[in-house]
Amino acid sequence: MPEKLTLKVVHYPDPVLRKRAEEVGVVDDSVRETVAAMLQTMYEDKGVGLAAPQVGLRKRILVLNPSGDPESPAEEVVLIDPTLVDLSGPKTRMDEGCLSFPGIFAEVERPDRCTVKALDTDGNPIERTFEGFTSRVVQHEYDHLEGVLLVDRMSPAEKVRNKPDLEELIETYKRRKAKA
Ligand code: NI
Repeated sequence: MPEKLTLKVVHYPDPVLRKRAEEVGVVDDSVRETVAAMLQTMYEDKGVGLAAPQVGLRKRILVLNPSGDPESPAEEVVLIDPTLVDLSGPKTRMDEGCLSFPGIFAEVERPDRCTVKALDTDGNPIERTFEGFTSRVVQHEYDHLEGVLLVDRMSPAEKVRNKPDLEELIETYKRRKAKA
């Protein structure tokens, strides 16, 4: 039996989070294995979404489940090589967290609706429109593929409020780096 792929979430300010992820192109078994491992990691870490750069992979793959519940697989969304084709609707503000920013929550303003073209896990082209919370998660995860992070979406006031926690993450990263 092949060894199961295990993934670990990388934290800010790891530089892999800043790089633009690359197109997958062909959806094969290794991509499907990555998707399955990403979903498992997302559930284990109690997240509602995860992008491949967050597990150190520079690939345009994102997974989400707005319920965060592994018992509700029907709510899972997998987008491979997604392109954001439209953003619309009224802008709303809501607290967002991110598995790469443990313990940090910040209010972020985003349009309510988004439309994405992507490939599904069979490699078939799909186009989907998301609204509300699911749309917010899709936009947040899509940001990761472009190297855009929660800290970039914070208002100046939110940045000030979160500064001590952000600095702590930077210090933790530096300490880990020094030990490695
Ligand atoms: Ni995130």
